[in-house]
Amino acid sequence: MDTSFVPPSRGVLIECVRAATTAPSLHNSQPWLFRVDPPAIEVVADAARRLPVIDPDGREHLISVGAAVFTLRIALARAGYSVRTELLPPPVCARVIAGFPRHADAVTEALAAAIPHRHTNRWPFAQVAVPADALARLRAAARQEGAFLNVADPAGRDAILGLARAADGWLRERPHYAEEIARWTGRNARHDGVPEWAAGPWDALEVMPVRDFVASPGARVPFEPHPTVLVLSTQEDTPLDWLRAGQALQRVLLTATLLGLAATPISQPVEVPSVRVQLTRRKAQMVIRVGYGRVAGRSPRRPLSEVLI
Ligand SMILES: Cc1cc2nc3c(=O)[nH]c(=O)nc-3n(C[C@H](O)[C@H](O)[C@H](O)COP(=O)(O)O)c2cc1C
Repeated sequence: MDTSFVPPSRGVLIECVRAATTAPSLHNSQPWLFRVDPPAIEVVADAARRLPVIDPDGREHLISVGAAVFTLRIALARAGYSVRTELLPPPVCARVIAGFPRHADAVTEALAAAIPHRHTNRWPFAQVAVPADALARLRAAARQEGAFLNVADPAGRDAILGLARAADGWLRERPHYAEEIARWTGRNARHDGVPEWAAGPWDALEVMPVRDFVASPGARVPFEPHPTVLVLSTQEDTPLDWLRAGQALQRVLLTATLLGLAATPISQPVEVPSVRVQLTRRKAQMVIRVGYGRVAGRSPRRPLSEVLI
């Protein structure tokens, strides 16, 4: 048997990095850098792209990096390699290492196919219940990455959305909040940030606390009055848990995409510590709304030359 190992070429690894840059990130801050060193790729957190007002501990910063790590793992597996991932303390957050050639399994193929189609969708969703088996798939996706996903019951959902609206108001009063959101929105959003067209409308029913990516939303439209709300959590709350939560988030979002589900993170309640502790008995990392939505567009990304070390 020939056991010689031919590592993936630099070109293959760079294409995997390109896939990783499509990952979701807080305000599309894309806080990642990649060092390609065949057969490995290191993923480094870019501290210059933190949002200190809404994310003072860098928790969402590392969740974003974790989402890129997961996407990289899937892209490398899809390219035909076994993959080993070492999570490391920041700033070098992960080494994703290609091993012997291996055919991607069907789940990996499906997740990889979903990568270019996953977008944050900030529009109203249809008033159609998400089937129980789809929710079970999302929960299993989180579990596979060592995290937990709870589907809120109606009372829990109403409580979470109430907390989210309160947290949203509280955040807007924080010093320097307006400057920080301005940096990542509107005209400043060319290769990063949230462009105006992606911001979505505000909810005429005032149920959904849409993030104020635009200063004046124009016409308000009614959102679905009874959204499906999920809480992603971890047992502990260290930087490595945040990286794990980011990987779980992206596995959940890609699974949702391949099930035809749209998703919006609703992060205000996890950005206010006194609200965050009320969401679950574990460590809440993300709140996510899922449902059936119209097609959402692709938000901008920085060129590869800016993210390769
Ligand atoms: C940690 C984290 C928190 C986020 N919080 C919110 C949020 O509160 N509201 C929102 O509309 N989008 C939120 N998003 C989605 C990002 O704004 C989105 O991923 C980014 O703009 C890139 O767009 P895309 O997901 O369509 O690729 C969050 C994403 C991450 C990773």
